[in-house]
Amino acid sequence: MKEFDHWDEQEHADLTEDEKQILDDLGLQGSTRRKFLKQVSAASLSLWAASTFSSTLLAHPMKETPTKPAFLQNEVAVSFSVNGETHQLNLDSRTSLLDALREHLGLTGSKKGCDHGQCGACTVMINGKRKLSCLTLAATCESHEVTTIEGLAKNGNMHPMQQAFLKHDGFQCGYCTPGQICSSVALLKEAEEGEASYVTEDFRKISSNLELSEEEIRERMSGNICRCGAYNNIVQAFREVHSGKEEMPSWEFATEEQMKKAKNA
Ligand code: FES
Ligand code: FES
Repeated sequence: MKEFDHWDEQEHADLTEDEKQILDDLGLQGSTRRKFLKQVSAASLSLWAASTFSSTLLAHPMKETPTKPAFLQNEVAVSFSVNGETHQLNLDSRTSLLDALREHLGLTGSKKGCDHGQCGACTVMINGKRKLSCLTLAATCESHEVTTIEGLAKNGNMHPMQQAFLKHDGFQCGYCTPGQICSSVALLKEAEEGEASYVTEDFRKISSNLELSEEEIRERMSGNICRCGAYNNIVQAFREVHSGKEEMPSWEFATEEQMKKAKNA
């Protein structure tokens, strides 16, 4: 009891301003406040204060964040087309295309994996060429045509590359998939136009309508990382669309004989 009396006397001296504010906000005054303080230790009240205040502080800006900020630093007006629709945006000049798509236009298909140009999850097409939208300033896209994963399907029909990814199971969690598909679609055009890659052996022999080998495909898609490791299936999906021929897995299920051998080994 002595300890509680001590609390009575020391209440205001011992409590921090934050803790006092919490008790005020809870409407705990006089005897109710003293009773409450007798039931909690100083330590738990401090912890509670810390979590309550920090969550209030952290949550507050989220609730209040305007969809259109009232004030922009380094404001620039930019107009570009996304999936065939022209958008006029006023943005901070430092806004990346990825943030403009996700935060300003609500197109969240392009993913922010690393935001440093290392994973390829944010790949989109600008004027038909694949680009990392996290490394592209939106302000540089004036009058350009941007295509994101949301713009590939036409009239409710998936793009052949999307269908092939589904058919060949070219994904697991799906996080890298929008970037993989955009990259693959742009790669089809690169092959048509005869663009060289790091593994192209003879630049003099390069022609349009290239038939890409597996090595070429893997090299050219190497900027798109898949943490789930769906690479074999992605290559298979790409090859089917690229060649127009049905692709079969290059691996086979083990025979019963092989299974038995493996068990006894
Ligand atoms: S988010 Fe752009 S490369 Fe990773
Ligand atoms: S499917 Fe999961 S990261 Fe590629």
